[in-house]
Parts: sequence; C-alpha cells; structure tokens
Amino acid sequence: MTKEDGTADVWWARRQDASAGHVALLDETERRRWTAYRRDADRERFLAGCVLAKAALARYAGLRPADVRFDRTCGQCGEPHGKPSMRGGTLQHSVAHSGDLVAVAVAPDPVGVDVEQFDERPHPLGGDGDPAALARLVMSGTEQSALAALPPPDRPRAFLVAWTRKEAVTKATGDGLRAAFSEVVVAAGAGPPRLVSWPYERSPREVTLLDLDAAAGYVAALAVLGPCTAVTRRDGSALLAGLA
Ligand SMILES: CC(C)(COP(=O)(O)OP(=O)(O)OC[C@H]1O[C@@H](n2cnc3c(N)ncnc32)[C@H](O)[C@@H]1OP(=O)(O)O)[C@@H](O)C(=O)NCCC(=O)NCCS
Repeated sequence: MTKEDGTADVWWARRQDASAGHVALLDETERRRWTAYRRDADRERFLAGCVLAKAALARYAGLRPADVRFDRTCGQCGEPHGKPSMRGGTLQHSVAHSGDLVAVAVAPDPVGVDVEQFDERPHPLGGDGDPAALARLVMSGTEQSALAALPPPDRPRAFLVAWTRKEAVTKATGDGLRAAFSEVVVAAGAGPPRLVSWPYERSPREVTLLDLDAAAGYVAALAVLGPCTAVTRRDGSALLAGLA
C-alpha cells in the first residue's frame, strides 16, 4: 500500500474494537501506560489508538504490526509521552480519541488529527460550559467576535469546531497544548477551514486544514503541514478485527 504526496488517509475505529488479543502488540512502555489507566474506556481508547496506528503503518511499510515501534520522546522533558513517530518509518501519523471514536491519520507530511464528542456528554465543553469564557482563554479577538455573533444555541458546537482545528494544527507541529492556542488562528464559522495565522516562521498558507466527517455527535479536523488535496476515509474497525 502506498501513500502519494499531497494525500492523507484517516483510519476510523471505535474503542470497543480493542480486544485482549491486541495487548500483545504493545511494547513495554505502552503496556505500562495501558495498565495505568483506571477506567475501562480510557484503557480501550489507548489500546485501540495505539494498535490501529501500528496496523495502519505496517500496511504502508510492508511490515507486521508487531514490528512497528514508536518513538514517543517528549520534546519538553524526554519522557515517553510526546507525539509518536514510527521508528525507521517515512510516513507521519497522528492519533486522536474521544468518546467511542478513535482516529489515526497518516500522511507523507507532518499531520495532526483531532476528534471531540459533542453529543451525549453531560457538558460538551467541560468546565462550566460557557463558550465565551473558554473562548477568552484559547481564541484570538477576531475568533471571539465571530463566536459571539452566532445565535447562542450554535456557539458550543462552533467553539468545538474551532478547537478541533486548532488542536489538529498543534498536533501536527508536535507542540499540542504547549502552543498558545489564541495565536493559532483558524477561520471560524461558515466557509472552508483555513489557518489564518500562527506563531511559527513558516507561512500559514502552506498548512492544509480540513474538517472531517467523523460520526453523528462528533466534530473532527485534520491538519497537514504541506499540501493535501485528497483525504481517504479507511475502515480501522475492520483492520483491528483482522488482528484480533
Ligand atoms: C497532544 C494533546 C493535545 C492531545 O490531547 P487530548 O485531546 O487529550 O488527546 P487526543 O485524543 O486528541 O490525542 C492523544 C494522542 O495524541 C498523541 N500525542 C501526544 N503528545 C502529542 C504531541 N505533543 N503532539 C502531537 N500528538 C501528540 C498521542 O498519540 C496521544 O495518544 P496516546 O496517548 O493514546 O498515545 C495533549 O496531550 C498535549 O498537548 N500533550 C503535550 C503537552 C506537553 O507537552 N506537556 C509537557 C509535558 S512535560
């Protein structure tokens, strides 16, 4: 399986696709993290995301999933909890999970994916759920104004759409939440997503930003630090089932 320049694949699965048989594919560090999760749902999300990433990358590289190893060294402290990259691989990937969904994006250029559950959460935005208060923390002045101009019932979802776009960009750079989200400015509201400005030297115009059709009740976004003209949706559930 090949991956052409300027394209990306997004593999989608559900946390319930993780099964006991997949644990054998975890390395020692991953197994420690897996056992440390206290809640079943967190354990399943981690296992499904990790094994799906291995299985997907193995297909492009012509390897067995067990032979795919990740370097997760954190750029900040050196601990193994940073952006994962495949040792000896040429493709880039990104993992995201929320609720029941797990996504793994794969591309030749640095890539970031984010998914957030919107429906069926007691408070989709967390905290006290006030989009304006959260927007003051993570949005630029222009983005806050665009959010405030929407009818109140539309604001929580619009906030989450902007959030997933920002997080996809910062996951592609590898900075994640260390980046100042208010300086990662994305076109919010109607119209295609676009990175307007960011606190890096590279031109924001070189970044491809797309909303993904995840599943009902979820919002998701994909960022590629380079051109990306075609995104293919792939069946990660089938891939995981084939391994179990
Ligand atoms: C990356 C980050 C934004 C993800 O947040 P989240 O919404 O809770 O989780 P998501 O489901 O969207 O993504 C989780 C996945 O992102 C990946 N990831 C972790 N750190 C990452 C980073 N710096 N950049 C990109 N991806 C990262 C991992 O694959 C992780 O999955 P895993 O834990 O199952 O291995 C957040 O964890 C973060 O900012 N981490 C870095 C913070 C940091 O550097 N702190 C300093 C520590 S010393």
